[in-house]
Amino acid sequence: MSSQLFRTKSLALLLEEMKGEQRLRRVLGPVALTSLGVGCIIGTGIFVLTGVAAHDKAGPALTLSFVMAGMACVFAALCYAEFASMVPVAGSAYTYAYATLGELIAWIIGWDLVLEYSVASATVAHGWSAYFRDFLGLLGIRVPPEWSGAPFDYAAGGEGFRLTGAYFDVPAVAIAVLVTIILVKGIRESASVNAAMVITKVAVVFFVIIVGAFYVNRDNWQPFAPFGYGGLFSSGEPKGMLAGAALVFFAYIGFDSVSTHAEEARNPQRDVPIGILVSLVLCTILYIAVALVLTGMVRYDQIDIHAPVSNAFIQRGITYGGYLISLGAMTGITSVLLVLMLSQPRVLLAMARDGLLPRSFFGAIHDRFRTPWKSTILTGIFVGTAAALIPLHILAELVNIGTLLAFVIVCAAVLVMRKTNPHAERPFRAPLFPWVPILGILFCLTLMFSLGWHNWLRLFVWLMIGMVIYVAYGRRHSVLSDEAQARAAARPKPGMPSHGIGI
Ligand code: ALA
Repeated sequence: MSSQLFRTKSLALLLEEMKGEQRLRRVLGPVALTSLGVGCIIGTGIFVLTGVAAHDKAGPALTLSFVMAGMACVFAALCYAEFASMVPVAGSAYTYAYATLGELIAWIIGWDLVLEYSVASATVAHGWSAYFRDFLGLLGIRVPPEWSGAPFDYAAGGEGFRLTGAYFDVPAVAIAVLVTIILVKGIRESASVNAAMVITKVAVVFFVIIVGAFYVNRDNWQPFAPFGYGGLFSSGEPKGMLAGAALVFFAYIGFDSVSTHAEEARNPQRDVPIGILVSLVLCTILYIAVALVLTGMVRYDQIDIHAPVSNAFIQRGITYGGYLISLGAMTGITSVLLVLMLSQPRVLLAMARDGLLPRSFFGAIHDRFRTPWKSTILTGIFVGTAAALIPLHILAELVNIGTLLAFVIVCAAVLVMRKTNPHAERPFRAPLFPWVPILGILFCLTLMFSLGWHNWLRLFVWLMIGMVIYVAYGRRHSVLSDEAQARAAARPKPGMPSHGIGI
């Protein structure tokens, strides 16, 4: 039994599978991959969550929160890049874990990536809704609050559970449906739509930094850390610079999604590491600059928590800036949603190919569009429902803890892989080994412990649900399982009559 749980997929088998049928089209070069990365990174985190993080968690020390979260991501990204160059197949961290730490951990990671991609998509859809309302508000149109929020909220150590009086978030559902339709059509179209949106949002971020810099009042940076520098091991709602870092970590999520497109990359071994690292470093620099400007423009306790960036410009009397930023944020956040929802079905596809999920559904590629259309639609339904009903900060914190766990495992997997497969070809190697993966693990764990116990509880419940699915389905249907191998051996050869159902 335990040997079953820790069975690994060999590197040779992974690379062999790349040559099989039912592959995705190889259309993405380094610029398209970097653009997918940036497309997935700059969004709700910088445009929305900076508000709560500055207002309630870190104050002007938000700038340091971004540095801290950025460092955790850079270490993890270097590990991702090493793996992505070694195992350039769809599936990302899930596939890396399967090759190194065994099936059970791979399943946990795959299930965890559902948190990262689908639950993050729901968070992002909420953020889109906030800027949509902000934009309509600037035009004098008011969206009724009953139709633009989650029906409940929960704050640990604060008011606890309460009903908000809203029914559900209609704009968030609408954007999830729209993106699902675009994605079912195909990646080539999606990638060019994405490129246009990425250019728009990067331009808006530059606008915020350059124009906003003229409105900075240094007095607003004092006190620099009104909530302190901590946040670790808090029993109630964590506060302080580290707590801020654990929240704005969300803003960096997405660089790893580049690795889920390895199978669609023209030269994955070179271009996927480029896409991961360039997009992350670029965004880290922009974020630190935005945090400095935002907290300099408006005193931290006056920063709006729904649409903080456009609101800062309105507060300083730059109304045209408010319009521009709202539009840019909506565009930018749409591109995040596009890439996150593009990545999720690809992870599910990788898991289905391994038999851990039903292949007939999650492995189905559309004949004409060549996209995993069934799981794309299922992802859309999940995202729409979660975005409709669950509050933004609960979704964001759940995503962060799940993604941090995935990063810890990827860093650990690099350590393991260097030991077990020292001679495997590594077109990209994480530098300063073993320090980079070790620091990646330490930084990510620090952020995880700055998220508050209720998030650990939610993560635990999520992983338990995953375990039930694995025990009930994946363990028996895994292509590496004895049962599946026996079924394969007993399956009639081509040309003979068949009564069985294929997987
Ligand atoms: N990093 C992405 C965002 O901030 C998920 O929206």
